[in-house]
Amino acid sequence: MQRHPLIAAVSLGLFAGAATSTALAEATPLEQQLKDLESFQVIAHRGASGHAPESTMAAYELAHEWGADYLELDVQLTSDGKLVVFHDDTIDRTSDGEGNINDYTLEELKALDSGTWFNEANADKADTAFEGAQILTLEELFERFGHDARYYIETKSPLLNPGLEEALVETLENHEMIENGRVLVQSFEQGSLLKVRELNEHVPLIQLVWYSPSEEDSDRLVEWTGVTPAPAEITDEDFQAIAEYAAGIGTNVTYKGEDVIDAGFISQAQENGLPVHIYTINETDEMQRLRGWGVNGLFTDYADRLLELED
Ligand code: G3P
Ligand code: CA
Repeated sequence: MQRHPLIAAVSLGLFAGAATSTALAEATPLEQQLKDLESFQVIAHRGASGHAPESTMAAYELAHEWGADYLELDVQLTSDGKLVVFHDDTIDRTSDGEGNINDYTLEELKALDSGTWFNEANADKADTAFEGAQILTLEELFERFGHDARYYIETKSPLLNPGLEEALVETLENHEMIENGRVLVQSFEQGSLLKVRELNEHVPLIQLVWYSPSEEDSDRLVEWTGVTPAPAEITDEDFQAIAEYAAGIGTNVTYKGEDVIDAGFISQAQENGLPVHIYTINETDEMQRLRGWGVNGLFTDYADRLLELED
């Protein structure tokens, strides 16, 4: 796989505080993180969300205990400007409240129960300890695991969360997460990633893509935000355009049970300097199939299943 421009820049000492020529043999933490992206990464999607309420401390505790490479999370802004770890635009599905998450202050969100819904939906995994689970702030997650974890953070719904990138980069900097090789920032919105890069050029970025049939012609695939052409039409130049700003790609592999990409997509991306992570893979058979394609990582609600395969 080609060397990512960020690794090359670190080696050339272009980053503040980067290794000097005398210490080039030893990788900086950020350089090591980028190198690790070339191997297989277990990405715990919303924590161990197959076993505990998604995006809660219980879910992240489990995934961390198992040794997942990354804790995956989505961040959004409260009405009073605090960063919270939350996937949906509304609080209806995963709490006892209702309405848009951005309409509530952190204090109001903290009063909600984000755990009981899981017990009701998963009788076999229900645990009274989940009752009353609180929505987490990004700060709380960082305070709990610090530099002992890596975080794969999605800027969720950037158009509904103006100021999200600024708040995120400030928090990453305050916790010294970037130079310590602790974070990837992912988004479907190219503009959001470019904003993060503008705020801090050292943050490794992952461009998310979603392939599905076109509404006009269901025989033709399209990418959701148009960041790439359909997989069948993708060129090296298309991948290189993404590699200009991103350290990797995150993609779906199927749409309604049909493959939208193949092993050739994976190798072409890799040849153009982009490791590929696939979301969201929960079945062991599918994990094995994609491992066979040589993907660089899988997002999964069941990091335990994937880690077992890696043993
Ligand atoms: O971030 C990768 C994957 O999580 C994207 O889908 O909807 O689960 O955030 P979603
Ligand atoms: Ca996500």
